[in-house]
Amino acid sequence: MAALSLDGRRVLLIVSGGIAAYKALELVRLLRKDNAGVRAVLTRRGAEFITPLSLQALCEDRVYTDLFSLTDESEMGHIQLSRSADLLVVAPASADLLAKMAAGIADDLATTILLATDKPVIVAPAMNVRMWQHAATVANIAVLRARGIVVIGPDEGPMACGEFGPGRLAEPAAIFAAVRDFFGKSGALAGRHVIVTSGPTYEPIDPVRYIANRSSGRQGHAIAQALAANGARVTLVSGPVTLADPPGVVSIHVETAREMHAAAAAALPANVAIFCAAVADWRVDASDRKIKKSGTVPTISLVENPDILSDISHRANGRPGLVIGFAAETENLVANATAKRLRKGCDWIVANHVGAGSDVMGGTDNEVVLITQDGAEPWQRASKSAIADKLVSRIIKALS
Ligand code: C5P
Repeated sequence: MAALSLDGRRVLLIVSGGIAAYKALELVRLLRKDNAGVRAVLTRRGAEFITPLSLQALCEDRVYTDLFSLTDESEMGHIQLSRSADLLVVAPASADLLAKMAAGIADDLATTILLATDKPVIVAPAMNVRMWQHAATVANIAVLRARGIVVIGPDEGPMACGEFGPGRLAEPAAIFAAVRDFFGKSGALAGRHVIVTSGPTYEPIDPVRYIANRSSGRQGHAIAQALAANGARVTLVSGPVTLADPPGVVSIHVETAREMHAAAAAALPANVAIFCAAVADWRVDASDRKIKKSGTVPTISLVENPDILSDISHRANGRPGLVIGFAAETENLVANATAKRLRKGCDWIVANHVGAGSDVMGGTDNEVVLITQDGAEPWQRASKSAIADKLVSRIIKALS
């Protein structure tokens, strides 16, 4: 469903080099006409095709041109620029800029913003057909898509270089429609950002061995999917699982608890955070080399992992408005989970019984008790996706 208008939405448009750069002017015009706020960054190569002045005439603000310009940094730093928008649009996106984005290179204002941003990104590639079809570009686009970046076009047709094929910048109207679609995402959670952790963590013992647990990621992934279906922007931080990334969700893949902690913290700010992952409480003081069989049994010493749920729940700054933890218990489910809610500092705990004979860990169904400040509420056994839907409706109720 399309939004009625882009009223007040803030778009940061990055214009990189290419003959199609002139079409960015039409895109700005369409966005402004629909009442979006538009700031523009013109790369050095982009400025060889259009002038900052022509962009500026259409934007609400001056045009930002280079990281190393002292005026730009003193007026508005690249971090602030990257956070000042609701959405980043790169049009045209050159092969070179896409490669830098995929590799995480930040060597000018545009690439630094793209590396520093925590906002969603749409790219509209434009390049020669052979460059578009080159294995390097194909791999870069796959990397960007896997990170949740939306790719619009390119279109097929005769190109400025005289060749024919895919590579032409998508029409400004199509890019504009993608922006409208993005903001028009309907659902009760539209405009909300939710972080979900899911799956197990792997804690290496040495380069070939690790400690893990039986978590499949089914419950966390189902929650991420249900949130996205209700319009939320979802960042899923997943440990190693065999499940596919849920559609419409930004999935970040990690292995260890420390990586999960860093990825979840980097995804802040968020309105809601749901810590469903079965995080290893301890990691091994790991060996750099494979431990050899040598007649004696090796001793593995354990070190405590950071507690992600507790850390984010106790943050004085940037704590999500609603923090939900999970508790897998083998006995005294309600008492233990109730104590855990207070100890961890979270708002709700979804408690499940994982005693002997339980198929919850790794299975397709779940039987939970929701613990809130109002007490314990047992839910009927149901599929993990039905539990996810129920939890998401409770979240919607709590936020409204
Ligand atoms: O203390 P316990 O591991 O039983 O707590 C379970 C809850 O804490 C779950 O929500 C789990 O995702 C979270 N947790 C965490 N980081 C850890 C350990 C647990 O976020 N290191």
